[in-house]
Amino acid sequence: MSDTIGLVILAAGKGTRMKIDTPKALAKTAGKCLLDYVVEASLDFAHQSSLKAEIGLVVGHKKELLEAWLDKHPAKSQLKTAWQKEQKGTADALKACFHDLPHFWNYEYTMVACADTPMIRSSEFKVLFEALKSSPGLVGVAATFEAHEPKGYGRIVHGNHGFHIVEEKDATEKERAITEVNSGFYILKTSHVKEVLGSISNDNKSGEFYLTDLFQNKYEVKAVKFPSEVPFLGINTMEQLAEVTSLLRARKLKQLMIDGVEFLNPQTVHIDDEVTIGVGSTIYPNVTLLGKTKIGERVVIESGAFIKNSEVKSDSEILAHSYLEEALVHEDVTIGPMARLRPGSDIGSESKIGNFVEVKKSKLAKGVKVSHLSYVGDAEIGENTNIGCGFIACNYDGANKHKTTIGKNTFIGSDCQMVAPISVGDDAFVAAGSTITKDVPSGAFAITRAQQVTKEGAAKRFIKTKKS
Ligand code: UD1
Ligand code: CA
Repeated sequence: MSDTIGLVILAAGKGTRMKIDTPKALAKTAGKCLLDYVVEASLDFAHQSSLKAEIGLVVGHKKELLEAWLDKHPAKSQLKTAWQKEQKGTADALKACFHDLPHFWNYEYTMVACADTPMIRSSEFKVLFEALKSSPGLVGVAATFEAHEPKGYGRIVHGNHGFHIVEEKDATEKERAITEVNSGFYILKTSHVKEVLGSISNDNKSGEFYLTDLFQNKYEVKAVKFPSEVPFLGINTMEQLAEVTSLLRARKLKQLMIDGVEFLNPQTVHIDDEVTIGVGSTIYPNVTLLGKTKIGERVVIESGAFIKNSEVKSDSEILAHSYLEEALVHEDVTIGPMARLRPGSDIGSESKIGNFVEVKKSKLAKGVKVSHLSYVGDAEIGENTNIGCGFIACNYDGANKHKTTIGKNTFIGSDCQMVAPISVGDDAFVAAGSTITKDVPSGAFAITRAQQVTKEGAAKRFIKTKKS
């Protein structure tokens, strides 16, 4: 039978120093909120260690926003909230969890993590858990590290046996000189928590209930010292948020390069944490890839491209200064330069969308060409159809949107307008300069151009000369 663990994430604090009104845990970095990182690392850890796990999220300040976040979370069935009404300290926060989620007492282990540490990964949790499991007598382990600047952290005071944690406010001069600090991440046997949590007092300088009191010399506890403080970096200010964002970006880029993605100038690109890029792809300078964007293999993305929540499949090219949002680009497609794909654009393989073309909520089949200066909105275009320069799908009548359907192997000459709702069949030919208001059947030729009138020698009547 697998071990069981309650993963408690403390997120009730106000985050006063951030100055923003939303809970700190929901502040965003590299496209996800702080809490997303901690939840992901916790669930990954539980999964990799074959643990039966559930997350208990302790909420307080603006709890309805955190509850709304949770409601949209894909792992929502594994996420529960507990409400800490007043922020009386970290031990009180854990009490609130067991109060609202009493079945957490049944889990063999309890992990405690803070919500504002997005650099944390499952590997730190694993190291901590393995340390706890490796000696059967242990009741708890705390993650510690050597801090460059220990100010603000609880100090690790080692005794002959075990250790205890002294908060900065309560520390003596000598204790403050200690550089090994408490990260705020722990794994404990739940039986130990049950024995001690209720008896923790708030008899200290801040009048708060300190969770760190679960660690005392008299208990079988161990401080597990990590080689770097980076995974535990907490965010308290906007400045720290920006610093961590650049660390997360650097980590992401490094991983992508290991995975075989080429960056011509990695310092200038912005890539969100959830973005994926396939091997052999090349990213030019000044490219922005956001949200859940997925880039296939051997894709080229030129400078100035801005791609948000979109998918670009293998062997396609996104040329300079193109803007894609919630778009799907199939294999071997060329987009841009300076093209715009709005939500719902679905561009078939081997198609071409050229400069100054805007596409919205339209499905283009394989091999469609819209090479210059066009608007394709609410349209469906069949295989190998060629749309000439200056095409407009007149999809909006001032009140409603209407659909344009064009079949396969059809040729639409330059400067044509389709007044939707309208349909043009397969193998049809629409002459340049036509405004199409009636359906064109398959195989038909359509033209709506006015007859040309040419009058020999008549130009001089129209050419104005300046009066002197
Ligand atoms: C805590 C530790 C300190 C450690 C530091 C690491 C205690 C007493 N001290 O201090 O030893 O070095 O973390 O960052 O635990 N929270 C609640 N409810 C509360 C208070 C806090 O949910 O009533 C949450 C906060 O939202 C935050 C986490 O607990 O996510 C830590 O709280 P914080 O106030 O930042 O603790 P520190 O003073 O930094
Ligand atoms: Ca803190």
